[in-house]
Amino acid sequence: MTTEPKDVSVDVRPKRQATVKHIATRKGGTPLVCLTAYITPMAARLDQHCDLLLVGDSVGMVLYGMDSTLGVSLDMMISHGRAVCRGAKQALVVIDMPFGSYEESKEQAFRNAARVLSETGAGAVKLEGGIEMVETVEFLSKRGIPVLGHVGLMPQSVHTNGGYGARGRTVDEWQPIIDDAKAIANAGAFAVVLEGVAEPLARKVTEEVAVPIIGIGASNACDGQILVTEDMLGLFAINPKFVKRYAELGDGIASAIETYADEVRTRAFPSEEYTYKMRGANQ
Ligand code: KIV
Repeated sequence: MTTEPKDVSVDVRPKRQATVKHIATRKGGTPLVCLTAYITPMAARLDQHCDLLLVGDSVGMVLYGMDSTLGVSLDMMISHGRAVCRGAKQALVVIDMPFGSYEESKEQAFRNAARVLSETGAGAVKLEGGIEMVETVEFLSKRGIPVLGHVGLMPQSVHTNGGYGARGRTVDEWQPIIDDAKAIANAGAFAVVLEGVAEPLARKVTEEVAVPIIGIGASNACDGQILVTEDMLGLFAINPKFVKRYAELGDGIASAIETYADEVRTRAFPSEEYTYKMRGANQ
């Protein structure tokens, strides 16, 4: 059973920049609107509509052509994080901790997460993992680093967990995912991203976990939704089942470039309108 959309189009966002407290209070309320952003102009456009902007490590695949997120570095995240913070005035900015920057120890995680927050101005970090990350999430949360959890399908574990297929499509797969989400929330995460799971499991996790559950490919039962912006705008070739394309900007770009190429080749561009005249010349 899916949840019927309710008429909740009111803007419930705070007037100043959202904090993790604002996000946490939205459990069970108007769904949180979240998108990824990697650059300033996109962040500025999304900001007025979103509660949370995630500088996702998906940047590696979407902007750099990598075939997984594993090659993304801390410096890349910091650089894109800074760019997004320059464009975001209202939404909470959260930055992904990339693969290899937090798993070794809670101290390593603190050192790198502190760099992320102090060098970008973002309000929180996100890290992937369930029960195995409890100590780290607790350590960071108690030391001034708010953490957004990420369970279910975890792209950084693609090699150990066997691909990007949806999880929890048989009931015997449910309990570890429920346990992971609860454990991360109890350790201090202010919200948890739940990726790529069947709807009844998403509903159960949302009902049983005390903090907001932000779904991606996890049905409308969650407390909010996140998508990769380039996916929903039709700017990225890979199109998973859970992505609704709200625009086909890729087609628009292709046709603009084709026209430009034709006009350059025929000298139609630049026409007079786009050409400097000598000072004093008419027009
Ligand atoms: O890296 C990413 O973009 C993510 C998703 C949850 C959107 O982690």
